[in-house]
Amino acid sequence: MNPHGSTDPGSGHHHIDIDWERMAAHLEAVGDVQLPVLRRTAARLRELLGPTRDVRRVLDIGSGPGVMACVFAEEFEGAEVVAVDGAPGLLDRVRARAERLGLGGRVSVRCAELPEDVVGGDRVGVDGPGTADLVWSGMALHHVGDQQAMVDGLARVVRPGGLLAVAEAGLPMRFLPRDIGIGKPGLQARLDAAGEHWFELMRAELPGSTDVIEDWPAMLGRAGLTDVGGFTTLLDVPAPLSAPARAFLSGHLTRARETVGEFLDDVDRTTLDVLLDPAAPEGVLRRPDAFLLSVGTVFTGVRPAR
Ligand SMILES: C[S@@+](CC[C@H](N)C(=O)[O-])C[C@H]1O[C@@H](n2cnc3c(N)ncnc32)[C@H](O)[C@@H]1O
Repeated sequence: MNPHGSTDPGSGHHHIDIDWERMAAHLEAVGDVQLPVLRRTAARLRELLGPTRDVRRVLDIGSGPGVMACVFAEEFEGAEVVAVDGAPGLLDRVRARAERLGLGGRVSVRCAELPEDVVGGDRVGVDGPGTADLVWSGMALHHVGDQQAMVDGLARVVRPGGLLAVAEAGLPMRFLPRDIGIGKPGLQARLDAAGEHWFELMRAELPGSTDVIEDWPAMLGRAGLTDVGGFTTLLDVPAPLSAPARAFLSGHLTRARETVGEFLDDVDRTTLDVLLDPAAPEGVLRRPDAFLLSVGTVFTGVRPAR
């Protein structure tokens, strides 16, 4: 069984069999590369909460290794931050990171399966993770079958006057020129198309999978939130990349090879192999032209005071 309960890879349900714990180091590298963006995001959320709001409790739903949870603990100095995730190995990383940063006293973890352990109807605020002034979820809600029900449930755990913030959209990352001198030009566009295909299969296989127009502001509005809006952040790391940024990019392409390799043709699969070869001069660990450019959008809504 994988950490999120899928049992039978032979049944064709393999696109939701994501081994999050095996991806732990990569997920933390993603967060580290994004740190300046995450800090700007936390500062913007503080502005949206307003200067008079005393932020006492923050929930990070689907926290992964807790990079954002720790950023919140730094931004909201008086707050307790609870990282909620279904993968115990990732929560170990949250604890270790918080200790390392001297935030251990204010960052705690909670192992919970989405959606039932977090927004399970009457249990909200009783034996769930409780309520919070700021409820954040980054790139996790699309792993839940019924995204609207999940948003509805999260809106209920926001304290009156508090904020729900969901990072779920943006643009696929760009990291190489169109023509990279090997294989066929345009690899990134084909990776994007294959990623869309994988995403569709993954969503269809989720328990309780429900189609919804992924209009996040409309979804937040239907959940009863007001002042719905959004803002977009930019990650722009020019070439030549540092060693940690290269390692992150290599992890990104390794994951692409694993998840969407089956949807690419032989030429593109071979190109990916070369890009991932640590000894190849054309590989992303060595080539001078690799960069990171990505855009993410955060959608927000306020729980009405009464
Ligand atoms: C793509 S990662 C995002 C991690 C982090 N929020 C970030 O932005 O880097 C998705 C996270 O959601 C968690 N997750 C996915 N499905 C889940 C479920 N059904 N229940 C609990 N956690 C889940 C995974 O364990 C993983 O940590």
